[in-house]
Amino acid sequence: MLRTHTCGELSLEHVNQEVVLCGWVQRVRDKGGMIWLDLRDRYGITQLLFEEGKTQANVLETARSLGREFVISTKGVVIERLSKNDKIATGSIEIRVTELNVLNPAKLPPFLIEDETDGGDDIRMKYRYLDLRRNIVRKNLQLRHQVARHTRAYLDDLDFIEVETPVLIKSTPEGARDFVVPSRMNPGEFYALPQSPQTFKQLLMVAGFDRYYQIVKCFRDEDLRADRQPEFTQIDCEMSFVTQEDVLNTFEGLVRNLFSKVKNFDLPEVPRMTYADAMRLYGSDKPDIRFEMQFAELKGESQDLTSGKGFGVFDDAELVVGICAPDCAVYTRKQLDELTDWLKRPQIGAKGLIYVRYNTDGSLKSSVDKFYAEEDIKKWAEALNAKPGDLILILSGAADKARKQLNELRLEMGSRLGLRDPNVYRALWVLDFPLLEYGEAENRWFAMHHPFTSPKPEDIQLLDENLGAVRANAYDMVINGVEVGGGSVRIFEKELQKKMFGILGFSEEEAQEQFGFLMNAFEFGAPPHAGIAFGFDRLCSIFGGADSIRDFIAFPKNNSGRDVMIDSPSLISEVQMKELSIKSEIV
Ligand code: AMO
Repeated sequence: MLRTHTCGELSLEHVNQEVVLCGWVQRVRDKGGMIWLDLRDRYGITQLLFEEGKTQANVLETARSLGREFVISTKGVVIERLSKNDKIATGSIEIRVTELNVLNPAKLPPFLIEDETDGGDDIRMKYRYLDLRRNIVRKNLQLRHQVARHTRAYLDDLDFIEVETPVLIKSTPEGARDFVVPSRMNPGEFYALPQSPQTFKQLLMVAGFDRYYQIVKCFRDEDLRADRQPEFTQIDCEMSFVTQEDVLNTFEGLVRNLFSKVKNFDLPEVPRMTYADAMRLYGSDKPDIRFEMQFAELKGESQDLTSGKGFGVFDDAELVVGICAPDCAVYTRKQLDELTDWLKRPQIGAKGLIYVRYNTDGSLKSSVDKFYAEEDIKKWAEALNAKPGDLILILSGAADKARKQLNELRLEMGSRLGLRDPNVYRALWVLDFPLLEYGEAENRWFAMHHPFTSPKPEDIQLLDENLGAVRANAYDMVINGVEVGGGSVRIFEKELQKKMFGILGFSEEEAQEQFGFLMNAFEFGAPPHAGIAFGFDRLCSIFGGADSIRDFIAFPKNNSGRDVMIDSPSLISEVQMKELSIKSEIV
């Protein structure tokens, strides 16, 4: 090897040893008679010392010629530092250099390779290999490696085996948009990249594999956000001869094990909530339960505390729903106006906000005092468990819309009040999702999870009566308001699967053409099976305390789906197009 030690391992116990180090020049401080150089590698930083009179002239001269990010190797003796730096592991020693070789000079990097860099997102992505030299980015990838390692260890111990499934598969109509790849050998035909290995893992169950997992790339052509990439990674799992309860317990075990191994954090048993309760209490199927602020319906299915007082907005509303922001009665009119404007932005689209200040003297002051007596409003405060000093915030309108908007407001208030601490972790299972959701634009039913998800046995008869009311044996794991995983008990009988495709609007021929391979397999002895997939990048970002999954992916894409470093996607040559029998016309 070209080095005897790394830049992160030398300490006082190595004093007087001769060592050889290699790395990148982080910084040079030339004080005339003395030069200090910080040498960096993946493991840390070691200080090199050059001293006029003690260091050979040619070595000093080379030291003075070095620039940031030059790759060098150096020989020298470890000595104790006079002024120690307790912020770094090697801060008690330095190297008195005797030899110095430039292995490769470097151009001046376009941004500072420091934790606090001056480089914006775009430039850092263009030079991602330089960005990856920064401590904080490198640490994120090391964390990712730890999550993968402990995932494999946990699942291996439980007899899961990792099986790879193909990347060039068949485009199917359900789910997100596919990325497609033209086939040279089959002119005019296309492969699709898998949105997940869903059907393959089910086929592995038919094949008798019993317990499967795979840390696997998935591809979805959807609009991107902080927690979405066009190619992302799943911990994809499937089990045979199990109930939903078995799957929940096995994978709650995985997540708790990861928290313990990766974060040294003892995650308590994960509570469970039905989808219906999550929507009623939080207006979201992925509630952030690090903080309370549950919804109370002032006018809804169970009660009506608002109608008949002449306030048309509430009288006409399907739902009047509120939250109570603790200790926020001090909010000024200006702050409330600003909050109202925030809610009215097109991204949220609320028409307005009604508020009640529950003053510390016990009085109640609302923005609708014209219509409601204090006794009326007192009932609202009771419904919301408000106490003096609190601020009640109320939205109304069509039920789904009002809940969605109040969810946004709840999260915003939680953030403003510092109740969403990234170092606090609260996980939740959300259960009993609806099997189907209606697409108004398409005028048909869609599978809420995917078409292979089984209805709850007690709801099967509803498949002929009330499709919207059928619940699925489907579950999501949510951590701190982020959906980190989802899965379901699968349909494993051909007839039920056929019926499901029918409900989704496939003719028998279409279903056979698209999913025949799976339905045929179900005729050869399919075991009952169930599974789940975790968003691996999302799990890493939660462990790393960050919102964006990009920071945990070595070479991510930007919000337009571009890799700006390799400049992809890009045009291909006429020759390639011809080989693929493709003519391109941008329309
Ligand atoms: P689902 O579509 O819910 O389920 O995906 C599982 C998990 O993958 C993560 N995820 C994403 N992460 C980053 N970028 C994306 N674009 C993205 N899309 C999804 C989420 C999500 O919870 N085959 C089923 C699983 C099963 O039924 O077993 C599936 O893919 O964290």
